[in-house]
Amino acid sequence: MPGLTIGDTIPNIEAESTHGKIILHDYIGDAWAIIFSHPGDFTPVCTTELGKMAEYSGEFAKRGVKLVGLSCDDVHSHKEWIKDIEEYTSGCKVNYPIMADPNREIIKQLNMVDPDEKDSSGNQLPSRALHIVAPDKRVKLSFLYPASTGRNMDEVLRVLNSLHKAANYKVATPANWKPGNRVVISPNVSSDDAKRMFPGGFETVDLPSKKEYLRFTNVQ
Ligand code: BEZ
Repeated sequence: MPGLTIGDTIPNIEAESTHGKIILHDYIGDAWAIIFSHPGDFTPVCTTELGKMAEYSGEFAKRGVKLVGLSCDDVHSHKEWIKDIEEYTSGCKVNYPIMADPNREIIKQLNMVDPDEKDSSGNQLPSRALHIVAPDKRVKLSFLYPASTGRNMDEVLRVLNSLHKAANYKVATPANWKPGNRVVISPNVSSDDAKRMFPGGFETVDLPSKKEYLRFTNVQ
C-alpha cells in the first residue's frame, strides 16, 4: 500500500503534545500547516533542526502557517529536550507543539516511518518527514529525508512561498526559483487567457520546437 502522499487528506489524528491534546484538523483550522517528524529527542541533528524551525517560526507565522513536530518520545521527554534546543539555538523559543507517538501509530498513518532506524528495543522510528498541508487539509508537498540528513529550513520556506504562488495564481515556479524571481505560467492556461490573467504581460521563450509553453511573468 502506498503511504500518504500529495493530494491526500491528512488523517485527523489525535495526539498528546507539549501544548496539550491535539486534534490535527482542528489545529490546522483555516491555516496552512507544516507537520514534521524527527527520529528522536536528545539526538544531535534533531536538536539543530528543531532549533532552526524555532528560528524560522516568525517567517512561517507571517505567512499564516502553523507548525507541529512529532516523534515517538513522550511529552515529558519533549519538554525536557526543548531546554537543550533553546540553549543551543540561543534567543529562540520552541513555540510550536511537539506531538508524542509512543505507540508508533501516527507515524504509520502519516507515512513517516524510517525503514532503517530502530531504537535500542528494536522499535521503529520516524524519518525526517515533512508535510505541507493546505487549509483544505490536503497534503500539498512532502519531504522524506533519512536520519543522517538534516533539513534546510530555507528550502522549506522557499517551497512554501512557491505553493502560495501556485495557490494564488495559475503559475508554477521554475528550477532554483526564489521569491522575487519570475514565475512560469501554467501550461493549461491558453495564451489568450494569459493576456487577460497577467495584464503586466509575459515573455514567451522562442524554442526550437516553436511550441509556446515556456512563458515567464511576474506576480506579487
Ligand atoms: C540525529 O538527530 O542526529 C540522529 C537521530 C537518529 C539517527 C541518527 C542521527
